Amino acid sequence: MDKNFYITTPIYYPSAKPHMGHAYSSIIADFFARFKRIDGYKVHFLTGTDEHGLKIQRSAEKKGIDTLEFCNEISQTFRDLSKTLNLTNTDFIRTTEKRHQESVQYLWKELEKNDDIYLSKYSGWYSVSDEAFYNEDEIEEIDGKKIAVLSKSSVEWIEEESYFFRLSKWQQPLLDYYKNNPDFISPESRKNEVVSFVKGGLKDLSVSRKTFSWGIKVPDNNEHIIYVWLDALTNYISALNYPNKEDKLYKEFWPANIHLIGKDILRFHAVYWPAFLLAAKIELPKKIYSHGWILSDNEKMSKSKGNILDPLEIINQYGLDPLRYYLIKEVSFGNDGNISQERLEDCINSDLANNFGNLCQRVTAFAIKNCNSKIPNDIKFNDEDFIILNKYKDNLTTIRDKIDDQNINFYIDYIVKSLFEANKYFNDQEPWKKKDDQVRLNTIVYTTLEIVRKISFMLFPIIPESSLKALKIFNIKENQIELSSIQNHKYLEEGSSINKIDILFKKIEKNND
Ligand code: ME8
Ligand code: MG
Repeated sequence: MDKNFYITTPIYYPSAKPHMGHAYSSIIADFFARFKRIDGYKVHFLTGTDEHGLKIQRSAEKKGIDTLEFCNEISQTFRDLSKTLNLTNTDFIRTTEKRHQESVQYLWKELEKNDDIYLSKYSGWYSVSDEAFYNEDEIEEIDGKKIAVLSKSSVEWIEEESYFFRLSKWQQPLLDYYKNNPDFISPESRKNEVVSFVKGGLKDLSVSRKTFSWGIKVPDNNEHIIYVWLDALTNYISALNYPNKEDKLYKEFWPANIHLIGKDILRFHAVYWPAFLLAAKIELPKKIYSHGWILSDNEKMSKSKGNILDPLEIINQYGLDPLRYYLIKEVSFGNDGNISQERLEDCINSDLANNFGNLCQRVTAFAIKNCNSKIPNDIKFNDEDFIILNKYKDNLTTIRDKIDDQNINFYIDYIVKSLFEANKYFNDQEPWKKKDDQVRLNTIVYTTLEIVRKISFMLFPIIPESSLKALKIFNIKENQIELSSIQNHKYLEEGSSINKIDILFKKIEKNND
């Protein structure tokens, strides 16, 4: 079985500093990367910044600084955010890097060689904010201003000499590909969207610009620069050292398992990117997963509405893991999700502090007092213990399958349910009343500790720092976390010592007036 896993986030525009939407995509990608890693996979996890094009050029001009300097500065804030979010990305690519530029020019030549590129003239609507061309029927006029129906961003008319990619030629092959690879575009609703767009007819795509200079030059024609989306999408393979197909990274990790994106950029990933790859005779990624929007006050975040949520502010106030937990749990994955401080506080109090933190504290304190600060060694499981322990073993395959379907909500619901059960088990078994039956007391403690261990393993991809704090009870280190061991009922070594741990999550005092 192939035990390599390659996941990517979009490469973000460094036109403004990162916001909660960027943090969301990156945290979700990190969740999958960590899950796969504890399940024994070798993981490559790529993120980065998309630095060319008119949008970036104009943002730099507005600030009156040199474009590359501008990119350096904001790209660094994205890199810093990766650290702040505790992401385990194994690379960070910038499209202004040489390794990327060479790769893009090579891909261009391949497309040219296969007769997929020709020179002509483009006239039509262009949105700089989306870096996208729109047809007349995708444009509307509001207050005398032309905007794109879908994104509401303003468009301008452009007319210039341009190279075109023969996208029309790939209409049928794309439709065939979607049909033969039903999981290629997920979730299902998004697939239907793409299929009907492609069925509606594909026109050739303008893939070069001549009226500005901030980009990668078309090989053999210095007057043109390569369309920023052809440039940007190539990051997924340039980071693996394409075109060197004998390269270790490329061999191990292409095709990617998942390109994780937001629904705003679905067309580029599910139509243009596979068409470029088909034309260049490169294997297609296995899956494009497009998630929904993080909404703030039930609206899309935007500068003009002034409702942009800054992940750093939330992290300063509540800590990173609560934010990770909240985003992963509260947004029904694939759909839009509204986020609010109030719900975040509820999550911290009920799930993290009461359900998880409290269980860890209670059982540890009890074991320290009644089992001599040791994992008990005189134990004998009964049916009730087996029932609760066996659940993890019986559900392991399901858990893996659900994750391969990106069913994050199943995963987190499973954990929450398990925490309830564990708390209930400890309460119902009343070990404090078993002081005259040390074997039974030991067994209840051992079983509960085993469950704390299993759940902490499962929580690691979601709240890594807190999971590791909990695992200090057993002196378990990060490199020992292995998903498959949740099947094992006697993982904890009898007689080894138990450590007291600090409070995992502080409860938030809530004013209900
Ligand atoms: O589109 N909710 O970059 P970008 C959820 N450079 N996710 C959100 C979000 C929100 N409110 N806002 C942004 C680009 N995102 C291109 C990508 S890839 C080859 C090039 C996330 O800075 C989501 O993943 O506009 C979305 O697709 C991405 O940020 C867009 O980031
Ligand atoms: Mg955008």
